Amino acid sequence: MAVCSPGDEVIIPAPYWVSYPEMARLADATPVILPTHISENFLMDPKILESTITEKSRLLILCSPSNPTGSVYPKNLLEEIAQIVAKHPRLLVLSDEMYEHIIYSPATHTNFASLPGMWERTLTVNGFSKAFAMTGWRLGYLAGPKHFIAACGKIQSQFTSGASSIS
Ligand SMILES: Cc1ncc(COP(=O)(O)O)c(C=O)c1O
Repeated sequence: MAVCSPGDEVIIPAPYWVSYPEMARLADATPVILPTHISENFLMDPKILESTITEKSRLLILCSPSNPTGSVYPKNLLEEIAQIVAKHPRLLVLSDEMYEHIIYSPATHTNFASLPGMWERTLTVNGFSKAFAMTGWRLGYLAGPKHFIAACGKIQSQFTSGASSIS
């Protein structure tokens, strides 16, 4: 809601966590589903990403480790994706890293915002529900450039007001 205008496109690799397309619709944006295949471990093909991006593309949602596929994006693939994002100045990345700590060797987690040039373009979302089995606490967090976080804070303060005092 803080970054999308009506008509903006939100690119969502499938299979996806069920809430993403509805979140886009709640922001009056259009979900654009990008298929992935089991033969590629459900990882996005950068060429297909490139051909999916239009002038209206505003947000790419990445989820690694992924719910529901369990796939973990290797760093070199994220670097390829970052190079594509860098070519499209209006495109932001929402990197959902909720499952960061539920990962098995030899896979390793890469924070998308840590890649060259991506801090300014990335909103990292994370929380305590999965890694610490704290779902009921309703506590998550967002990291990114201050102007985006300030905009998100304005919206959230009218939606949920904030975390409960116990959390
Ligand atoms: C990929 C992903 N992101 C975010 C969430 C949100 O978790 P919560 O609402 O418990 O913070 C979930 C919950 O299932 C999830 O699977």
